[in-house]
Amino acid sequence: MTTKSLLTTIHQEFPWMRGEQPAERVAFNEELGMWEVFGYAEVVEVLGDNDNFSANTLKLMVGEEAAAEFNDGNLLQTDAPEHRKLKRLLSHAFTPKTVADLEPRIAKLAHEMLDQVQDRDGFEWVAELAYPLPVTVIAEMLGVPSGDKDMFRSWVDERFGNDMQLSLNPGDMEQQQAIMRRQFEMAEQLTAYMSEHAAERRRSPRADLLTELVQAEVDGLRLTDRQVATFGSLLLLAGHITTTMMLGNTVLMLDANPEQAARVRADRSLIPTAIEESIRLLSPFATAYRVATAEVKIGEAVVPAGQMVRMWTAAANRDASVFADPHTFDAGRDPNPHLAWGRGMHFCMGAPLARLEGRVVLDVLFDRFPTLRVDPDRPVVFMPSPETLGVRSLPLLTR
Ligand code: HEM
Repeated sequence: MTTKSLLTTIHQEFPWMRGEQPAERVAFNEELGMWEVFGYAEVVEVLGDNDNFSANTLKLMVGEEAAAEFNDGNLLQTDAPEHRKLKRLLSHAFTPKTVADLEPRIAKLAHEMLDQVQDRDGFEWVAELAYPLPVTVIAEMLGVPSGDKDMFRSWVDERFGNDMQLSLNPGDMEQQQAIMRRQFEMAEQLTAYMSEHAAERRRSPRADLLTELVQAEVDGLRLTDRQVATFGSLLLLAGHITTTMMLGNTVLMLDANPEQAARVRADRSLIPTAIEESIRLLSPFATAYRVATAEVKIGEAVVPAGQMVRMWTAAANRDASVFADPHTFDAGRDPNPHLAWGRGMHFCMGAPLARLEGRVVLDVLFDRFPTLRVDPDRPVVFMPSPETLGVRSLPLLTR
């Protein structure tokens, strides 16, 4: 199968992830008990409306009190005005300079990882680089041992390693609660792990992000231990698996579009736009969730207060009313106002890091391997969760 036809097989039951727009841009999904939004304008509307939508979706599953305790320090689930206070403190530690300074380290890691495979006829991109590189970068940045990456992988697999969907249908409650319990256990393990490292940094500071977080102070406000551990956990998980998918998807997209690959190889200044285009068409986080806090209209649909809204950013990113030739991979597409990083208040805080990793890694990859193609005899495997759109295994041939 060619890579181009392979791309039409991902997530069979969700054709809009591959470009088929559903009949309605906003619709209620009876089976899952939630609204679904597919149109670009409508997704932008929800992401920009902090008065009528809350990012704290956990409260619908576990109740207000448990969610408040669990979410303390979880920027992604925090609403205004707390979001602004928390983000100011976090940004104090996680600065553009901290990210920019990583460039030489990222290049060194990429070279070391590719050294291991240089003499072979081919290698598996995700196992050899697209997974270990981002996880090593974020672990080193935080100051936790990158040697624990198998444990991090097991936590990510618990969250995204199956094809279960979030459901609010009363008939699914038992199953959903079992999933929640497992995810809570996993999150508790991760938070406990991060707490231990944060406590250690309070005792003996080092040059790392956890130390910056425990020391951060803005207008007399400081982060609690719990907040440091929760935010550290968010960075660790959000900070690698998405980037892994981005690196895999970009290599896959270039393979599916050889003329575009040749264009980018010939003009490396196109690498950043090629990466943006790859995550527009294959958006690693394919969905985002919000809860309506009041009765509110999305497009023509009236959504009652308290209901969940699932936004398919992966579908919105192929909306023909915004993107010319929406299903075409154009490595130089500019402007490219896709929503793969989110939009508005919760816009991805790690985007500069992921972009840097993508630019440096592709540059090194092109330098080292003049010939590169997807191995036609070994399977490309995708992440099973419909909340994600990305490769999990990508065998390449280098000769
Ligand atoms: C290709 C890689 C990545 C993609 C596609 C991605 C995507 C996203 C998206 C869509 C959101 C918004 C979710 C929403 O509105 O509900 C988000 C938020 C976030 N991301 Fe990323 N992300 C990536 C890499 C990273 C990295 C490398 C880090 C950290 C080092 C990171 C940290 C965060 C954080 C902390 C937030 C929460 C921001 C807030 O709520 O204010 N992400 N990301």
